[in-house]
Amino acid sequence: MALALGLAAAAQQRQTRQQPLKLPQVPLIRASTTLVDVPVLVLDKQGQPLESLSRDDFRAFNAVRIVACGTSWHAALAGKFMIERLARLPVDVDYASEYRYRDPIPDSSGLGLLITQSGETADTIAAQHELIAKGSKTLAICNVVGSAVTRLAEGVITTNAGPEIGVASTKAFTAQLTALFTLALYLAQVRGQITDRESLHLVNELSRIPAQIEEILRTVDETCHELARAFSTARDFLFLGRGIHYPIALEGALKLKEISYIHAEGYPAGEMKHGPNALIDETLPVVCIATQDPGDPSSVLKYEKTLSNIQEVTARGGRVIAIAIQGDTHIAQLVEHVIHIPQSHELLLPILEVIPLQLLAYHMAVRRGCDVDQPRNLAKSVTVE
Ligand code: G6P
Repeated sequence: MALALGLAAAAQQRQTRQQPLKLPQVPLIRASTTLVDVPVLVLDKQGQPLESLSRDDFRAFNAVRIVACGTSWHAALAGKFMIERLARLPVDVDYASEYRYRDPIPDSSGLGLLITQSGETADTIAAQHELIAKGSKTLAICNVVGSAVTRLAEGVITTNAGPEIGVASTKAFTAQLTALFTLALYLAQVRGQITDRESLHLVNELSRIPAQIEEILRTVDETCHELARAFSTARDFLFLGRGIHYPIALEGALKLKEISYIHAEGYPAGEMKHGPNALIDETLPVVCIATQDPGDPSSVLKYEKTLSNIQEVTARGGRVIAIAIQGDTHIAQLVEHVIHIPQSHELLLPILEVIPLQLLAYHMAVRRGCDVDQPRNLAKSVTVE
């Protein structure tokens, strides 16, 4: 049994560890300019660089509607922050299973964006048909070239994360975030919302991510292992975040639910007072994403607000595990446990934050004797409704 479990767990652990090697999606940068060459990555159905979604099309879209399921939906929520902030283009995010049944209002001038690891999720395919029927051009962010969604889409951004075996998505998620950041940057450029200097800064920050993920994998695994020992008997977990960090809280909760069968909820930290505060006592572990980009005043403000939320949790006896950036010594005085990650741009921090949450879920599941790769009742690809 122990051997079987070890083998079963291997794929999930391996794919979590593969992440830093999987950023071929990082755009090509022309030597003479800071322009991120996204069209090279947008392929047509034959895998050729796309012409049917032109630079002019990308410039002309007046909105983006993202449709996805599960972990890909969490990537979509983070992508909304990236696209709205960089490209100043309004973004709506829908669950595919909801979108298809709510008679959406036609919008042929918006981009329909499907995010899907497999490209075969039935609800996502149905939502794509609905988008196309309403006149939208569709672009897919997908890990499987040739899959149903990529065949229907006018353009595809491939995530190139390699085959993902474990049911719970890990490396595909970080690859989706990378693709979304790249797309947001491209939209910002074609819409004239960003200077070359800012573009270069963001591309430099993006290029640091693979080494930073490797560093996290090296430095936080043991801590996550110890945290699993301390908290594996907990019945419930809360995950909190603000802004772009809130979707990562949702994803952390989903990973824990999926593979360790512990009830977990993700919540926007500022909403705690409207209900979840009633749950807090000394038996409740609360994972708070309390990172910040010191160069970004809006990020610092959110961090300060998150610290207040953390104090509200600890004052009620809740046991806080904080995710914070390296060098943040202040937070260690407020909470029981801190996991440090390297500093990055506000919009890139999510890619780093999710790694310890994936590792925590993994160690919790192993400790509880769960089959990490094949959780009960779940499928890797949900091809029926
Ligand atoms: C299933 C998988 C999840 C995945 C979701 C969406 O539920 O277990 O890991 O996030 O489907 O899959 P997709 O392939 O469309 O991203």
